[in-house]
Amino acid sequence: MRLTDSERAILDGGSGPAKQRAMALLVDYGRILDAECLIETTNVAGVPGQATPLLRHYFEAEGGQKAIFSRFDLDSDAVFDVPMAGVRTACLQSGVDPLGWQTLGKTEAAFVASRDAEAYASARGVEMLRTCTPYLAGNVPAFGEHCAWMESSAVIYCNSVLGARTNTEGRHSTSAAMLVGRIPYWGLHRPEARKASHHVRVEVPTASVFDWGMLGYFTGEVVGEAIPILDGAFAPPDITRIKHFGAAAASSGGIELYHLAGITPEAPSLDAALDKACVETLVYDAAARRRMHAALNANGSIEDVDFVMLGCPHAAIEQMREAAALLDGRRVAAKLWIFTSRAVRDQAEREGVVEAIHRAGGNVLTDTCSAIGNAVPPGTRVVALDSAKQAHYLPAMMGIEAWYGTTAECIDAAVTGRWRGVAP
Ligand code: F3S
Repeated sequence: MRLTDSERAILDGGSGPAKQRAMALLVDYGRILDAECLIETTNVAGVPGQATPLLRHYFEAEGGQKAIFSRFDLDSDAVFDVPMAGVRTACLQSGVDPLGWQTLGKTEAAFVASRDAEAYASARGVEMLRTCTPYLAGNVPAFGEHCAWMESSAVIYCNSVLGARTNTEGRHSTSAAMLVGRIPYWGLHRPEARKASHHVRVEVPTASVFDWGMLGYFTGEVVGEAIPILDGAFAPPDITRIKHFGAAAASSGGIELYHLAGITPEAPSLDAALDKACVETLVYDAAARRRMHAALNANGSIEDVDFVMLGCPHAAIEQMREAAALLDGRRVAAKLWIFTSRAVRDQAEREGVVEAIHRAGGNVLTDTCSAIGNAVPPGTRVVALDSAKQAHYLPAMMGIEAWYGTTAECIDAAVTGRWRGVAP
């Protein structure tokens, strides 16, 4: 791989052992990918130094938090002091809400591990956003900016909606990129790799968040890991719709980048973003929508609902307000957990939205979600969800039934304890 003089100097140890190890890790990673060089990145989103009780116990004798970072994050044989982040770095979601860990059924040890890891990373300049939606919490990369992000729903948003460039990175590569500000130049960092190879023609009107979740689920299923471009029966989606679409597309498939013709920044027109080699047009029609609805409700049979989970990806402020409005004057019969980022929760708190949700008997939680935190209320048999992504993962992970519907149907289920969702 071609390295610049400054990269080679870091690799030779000129900037200390932590950066030397980070550079070596990235060079090995790049060689395996056949990357010709590294690219400067100015925006990293990962989980540097994040800890669980198991990790703490395992690395306790070697130095605790610094051993977690050097041995686990950077796969190093040696333990070294970890310097400040070299570039802007955000910490994504974790498994523990620092305020609501008891509600989630987490142990005190899990809370303490998470708290101490946060203090360690914060002291090294990491922004503790603790969300899968960093773009709703102040981290909005610029068009064309080279990023190193984890989290499939964030990656697809970063590439498709913002036009920034990232592959789906992992804990090791993001922790290394945080120190040296480099990432292998391959995949979606290369402009020639960002054209659509599949055309999805939307023939059934797609308007609500519920609709966009099903369209995303369809797109991921038919396209797999390729890059699609969509056009047809939809108006430009708002942030909630596009967030749910991307998360669903990255769940049923492995999509990291899509284009909406005439809407997303790299697709001024269908022809401009479509690869010349594309020969197939896939159609999303009423029958396909019915099929997606059935697939997302395949795990639902019991109409008594114990639990309603909203906020996957983490709820935007508009969704928090909507939930509070739907709950106005009502009281939940089932458990209701709404997950969001700390930033959105703060705003919702100032607007009285958190208080309104609490008044109705719901909970507002941050930093994690049921799937990532492996957390549902004790005794849950049936959950109602307005997220196709969560409906894809949660039933299998927790061994429970799930219904997929609109936010209003989910709030209705929370209030009545019954699923009364209507198929499209
Ligand atoms: Fe976020 Fe959890 Fe969904 S981390 S994208 S809310 S699976």
